Amino acid sequence: MTTAQTAPPPPMRLRELVFGAACAAALRAAARLGVADALGESPMAVEDLAAAVKAEPKPLRRLLRALSCYGVFTERRDGTFAHTDMSRLLREDDPHSLRYIALWCTEAWTWDAWPLLDEAVRTGRNVVEDLYGKEFFTYLNEDAPESAEVFNLAMTTSSRQSAREVAALLDLSGSTSVADIGGGQGHVVASLLDKYPSMHGTLLDLPRVVENADPRLREGGDLADRVRIVPGDCRAEIPVQADVYIVKNILEWDDESTARTLRNVIEAGGPGARVVVIENLVDDTPSMRFSTAMDLLLLLNVGGAKHTTESMIARLTDAGLVIEDIRPVNPYLHAFDCTVPK
Ligand SMILES: C[S@@+](CC[C@H](N)C(=O)[O-])C[C@H]1O[C@@H](n2cnc3c(N)ncnc32)[C@H](O)[C@@H]1O
Repeated sequence: MTTAQTAPPPPMRLRELVFGAACAAALRAAARLGVADALGESPMAVEDLAAAVKAEPKPLRRLLRALSCYGVFTERRDGTFAHTDMSRLLREDDPHSLRYIALWCTEAWTWDAWPLLDEAVRTGRNVVEDLYGKEFFTYLNEDAPESAEVFNLAMTTSSRQSAREVAALLDLSGSTSVADIGGGQGHVVASLLDKYPSMHGTLLDLPRVVENADPRLREGGDLADRVRIVPGDCRAEIPVQADVYIVKNILEWDDESTARTLRNVIEAGGPGARVVVIENLVDDTPSMRFSTAMDLLLLLNVGGAKHTTESMIARLTDAGLVIEDIRPVNPYLHAFDCTVPK
């Protein structure tokens, strides 16, 4: 029987850490095979699970044993496997599913990029352009459509989960319109329009992304008559007039792109507009391991960074925004509530 362990001595802990890739690969394999989906509420023999996911029983047992050490699945005394709170999150139908996040964070490009981290630390530049000859999102959309699809699904999952929290946090009474810049498939917009039944919303994101916007926002959807969908590049132009602009998890790229995006938001909104920037922070957060890992991945793919409170404040004030309030949205996201000065 395999059980999750706690606090091994430092040499063993370091040995474990250098095998971090094995843990990530095991999670990816389980997610791709659909093991968590095949395992129901009752424990299952590995032979039955193997038949359900079309795998060989012996290597599947090895995979599950490895994951059980981290508390993902558990092996029982009789050799059957059962779910844990963490393994359930790999199910596609779990209300808090992280299946697509697990796939996204372990996509093929990440395995090309991680070995070049020392190079990125040396130069301060992304490694994707040298690897693939183009910017990350261009590469994703032009050359890795399956990865782009996983990205969209991962963003859908995480933005659905955080959209409700954002809507619960923000008091937009008194405003009549909201625009989500780089808003993905539009879940934040949808949640805000649900909360404010007379509000109008705009979703701006790259063309390929808004093509797959939440069906509720598209023609025939119940929110369509209150929503405008704008395909575009927020670094080039933001042709959207609104009382409130949401900018969530996009100011993580290079400083020039951040500065241009903020400049465009300020120009579009004009004096008095409210700009709510929502980001993960690499300080003042209970989820430091997660946030700092994402910070390194951003360095690799877009030469970007997660912000500290201080660096976020600097970017916003340098752009000319006035910060009215900084509040946590949930344990890993903070909202910077700003206005464009009159
Ligand atoms: C990390 S996701 C965040 C999505 C959404 N704001 C959320 O929090 O759920 C980053 C988003 O920025 C979009 N994006 C990237 N480059 C962009 C650009 N130049 N113009 C507009 N959107 C862009 C991506 O397509 C993606 O939807």
